Amino acid sequence: MSTKATVRAPSNIAFVKYWGARDLDRVIPTNPSISMTLDACYSRSTVEHLAGDGPHEIRWRGRDGALEDAPPAFAERVRRHLDYLRGWSGSGGRFRVATENSFPAAAGIASSASGFAALTLATLAALARDVPLAERSDLARKSGSGSASRSVMGGYVEWPRGTGEGERHAHQVAPASHWDLRDVIALVASGPKQTSSLEGHRRAPTSPYFRTRLERLPERLGAVRMALALRDFEHLGGVIEAEAIDLHCVAMTSTPPIFYWQPETLAVLAAVRRMRADGVAAYATMDAGANVHVICLPESRDAVAERLEALDAVQRTIRDGVGDGPVTEDEHLF
Ligand code: PMV
Repeated sequence: MSTKATVRAPSNIAFVKYWGARDLDRVIPTNPSISMTLDACYSRSTVEHLAGDGPHEIRWRGRDGALEDAPPAFAERVRRHLDYLRGWSGSGGRFRVATENSFPAAAGIASSASGFAALTLATLAALARDVPLAERSDLARKSGSGSASRSVMGGYVEWPRGTGEGERHAHQVAPASHWDLRDVIALVASGPKQTSSLEGHRRAPTSPYFRTRLERLPERLGAVRMALALRDFEHLGGVIEAEAIDLHCVAMTSTPPIFYWQPETLAVLAAVRRMRADGVAAYATMDAGANVHVICLPESRDAVAERLEALDAVQRTIRDGVGDGPVTEDEHLF
């Protein structure tokens, strides 16, 4: 008998970023990271566990709105993770999977965190395996997307670095209700295809600034933890903007260099600085892409979004904010 489950899991935006791994195969990060789980940007995944042999079936929602075969590179990552979860669970059979994102696939928003969190949780549910949150986080990480380990829970989440051979799972630092922070995502005119974060982690240690960033991180992590605990927005904002710039310095000085920023990215960064000069508290952070996440308080959300939308550099914005984490849904994708 087959069992089917659907899970919606949100994306997250890192305040202190995972960049570089001690062991990329096992996804053991060089440094701890802290993120905010989002709400409006999510992936939804339906997984059906089927008896018998045969290949997994992997579909996603294409641009015309229909479910279609997922592109080979994505399907291959999904297939490997399904094989891993099947081995871990000791079950036989195969899986039928469909996945979709709440944001347009071509928007350049990293969907691996939400996608692999949703896939992992839906697969566990289809296998009727109820495991503790810490283990769910570990299993999501084994997809190869470290940030997926933070997307299995809501609010503010820290994923420690791990010590020695030990692997450490992510844990919630504070629930979403602790602090209503918003994230206005400025989608900029899309540039050339981006280098994957996996490749970025691989190249990071070749940058002369890799070690420098790591040396600054303990202080930065302490500042972010403290600012979150005290709900000190100005303090948090200054640190996360500096951190994002550092990550991109490492990327740009890796061998070969990776330029995620586009001219439009710089235009948005300048606009965020102008907002602050005009008294609108807003701070920018960027993941491995050209889009800019502008973090602000609820009262300035609309002003931030309107000012961003007025820029030629910005195609559109997504008004997002801190969220409560994944949910299981009754309605399936197929
Ligand atoms: O989880 P990955 O392998 O896609 O790497 C995430 C990299 C960043 O988004 C840039 C930083 C982070 O911690 O989310």
